[in-house]
Amino acid sequence: MAISKARPSPLPLLSFQLLLTLSLLHPLHCCHASQQPIQHIAVLVLENRSFDHMLGWMKEAFNASIDGLNGTECNHRSTKDPNSPTICVSDDATYVDPDPDHSLQGIKEQVFGSDATPTMSGFVEQALTISEDVANIVMKGFKPDRVPVFTTLVQEFAVFDRWFSALPGPTQPNRLFVYSATSHGATSTDKKHLALGYPQKTIFDCLDDDGLDFNIYFSSAPTTLFYRNLRKLKYVRKFHTFGTFMDHARDGRLATLSVLEPRYFDIASDPANDDHPSHDVANGQKLVKEVYEALRASPQWNESLLLITYDEHGGFYDHVPTPNVGIPSPDGIVGPAPYNFTFDRLGVRVPTIAVSPWIKKGTVVTRPNGPTPNSEFEHSSIPATIKKIYNLTSDFLTQRDAWAGTFEGIVGELTSPRTDCPEVLPDVTPLRMTGAKEDSPLSEFQSEIVQLAAALSGDDYSSSSSFMTVKEADGFVNDAMSKFFQASKEALYLGADESEIVDMRY
Ligand SMILES: *[C@@H]1O[C@H](CO)[C@@H](O)[C@H](O)[C@H]1NC(C)=O
Ligand SMILES: *[C@@H]1O[C@H](CO)[C@@H](O)[C@H](O)[C@H]1NC(C)=O
Ligand SMILES: *[C@@H]1O[C@H](CO)[C@@H](O)[C@H](O)[C@H]1NC(C)=O
Ligand SMILES: *[C@@H]1O[C@H](CO)[C@@H](O)[C@H](O)[C@H]1NC(C)=O
Ligand SMILES: *[C@@H]1O[C@H](CO)[C@@H](O)[C@H](O)[C@H]1NC(C)=O
Repeated sequence: MAISKARPSPLPLLSFQLLLTLSLLHPLHCCHASQQPIQHIAVLVLENRSFDHMLGWMKEAFNASIDGLNGTECNHRSTKDPNSPTICVSDDATYVDPDPDHSLQGIKEQVFGSDATPTMSGFVEQALTISEDVANIVMKGFKPDRVPVFTTLVQEFAVFDRWFSALPGPTQPNRLFVYSATSHGATSTDKKHLALGYPQKTIFDCLDDDGLDFNIYFSSAPTTLFYRNLRKLKYVRKFHTFGTFMDHARDGRLATLSVLEPRYFDIASDPANDDHPSHDVANGQKLVKEVYEALRASPQWNESLLLITYDEHGGFYDHVPTPNVGIPSPDGIVGPAPYNFTFDRLGVRVPTIAVSPWIKKGTVVTRPNGPTPNSEFEHSSIPATIKKIYNLTSDFLTQRDAWAGTFEGIVGELTSPRTDCPEVLPDVTPLRMTGAKEDSPLSEFQSEIVQLAAALSGDDYSSSSSFMTVKEADGFVNDAMSKFFQASKEALYLGADESEIVDMRY
């Protein structure tokens, strides 16, 4: 067996033999925290929307204890001029085309304005640097009936009204935090580094160390392959097309952890459902509906917990000041110049919803109870909670998941699973009146995925694909991913070491 090679830290051989012997005597599954009811966690991370934008208006509609909007929240056009006109929040968000700024510097201006503390005053001013249109859009939120799937889930299960992005930066660094509690120093998108893969240990490795299983379900390409470890041959059979999730749920074959990756490419026959502007939020709602209904109908429903969150706020307004006191750097790695970010602030608040028959109807979760007085819910709360629920033997991944709040308490209050959870969620009406723009050039995020697929399949991205449309990129990525998975499976079959990664360039 190749176990020792697959492990990041070299331990004495003796302890491996001991572990192996112990695991033969007691199948590992037997000993993991049996008094808590959850055996299957599913995580779905959507793209680029703030809490107030998606859920802020639910305070007025359903529960005054949700920290949402009351309509008096405004930003001045200039943070330096208190007499400048304001733009205030409104509940008429619909389909959004332009993509507001969510770079490290852009977010700093949104959060701090011209103040020294986070006052959430600079969203309008920062958006005005893009256009008048964007300045209007960033202050709009959805009326609850425009996002009917979330509206039902918030009323039936739990909403977190104080869950932040892990850093005030864009998509990929935040996505990296979700399963590894660090971005390994990334504060922006570093395509070369993404294509090579980030080296840190992940929660998947911790599960694997304890003999627990996980599956990753994806459309086009899985962003979890930005972690280099996940490219190892031993994990190749964990990746499945999205439809397989429905089969696994129906047949009671869900693993300890299921990762659900939305569709990032917008094709007429198969529209994107990641909620990233300009993609239609109605497709994200449909995706959540499908996932919920599959889980609700599953024989494993009574042992399941589904968490839905967003990688970052996408430039949309949120009124809750972002925490900036007592936030530990995950691993001491400092971000690149010129900002040299030390990971001492969290990002903007994002919508987070938890679903399980063990959650009391209409729960609103605010602050965690520790582990430190400054602890908050942020993306590192996901690996921290997985570790806690399954009593994993690995240490925390970084200082950040050791610090982040955990939410196992929300499934610890009832003595039996609820039987009144809806079987079907409301239907969703499209908000976008036009078709998918499949001939558009790629967004930054999409070109990162193309670069990943090119790197995995040994293709030269820079020469071949800089002029791809969304539709061409979708085809390219699908081909490249099947080549990579096929080659990995063949290498396994031929007896290659499980800890190896296939390199297709040779
Ligand atoms: C968690 O695992 C440890 C051994 O690693 C064990 O001593 C402890 O009893 C377990 N806790 C629960 C709640 O199962
Ligand atoms: C509206 O909410 C803000 C906090 O977002 C609060 O300061 C203000 O007092 C509230 N106003 C009304 C009229 O409820
Ligand atoms: C879930 O538990 C409830 C309450 O014990 C029970 O009525 C129901 O049949 C169970 N559902 C499944 C799928 O096991
Ligand atoms: C960031 O670090 C570089 C060296 O890596 C240094 O030259 C630069 O002055 C630093 N910038 C700031 C704002 O501290
Ligand atoms: C509002 O949220 C609080 C806190 O979770 C909860 O106790 C209360 O029952 C909720 N109210 C409604 C109407 O759901």
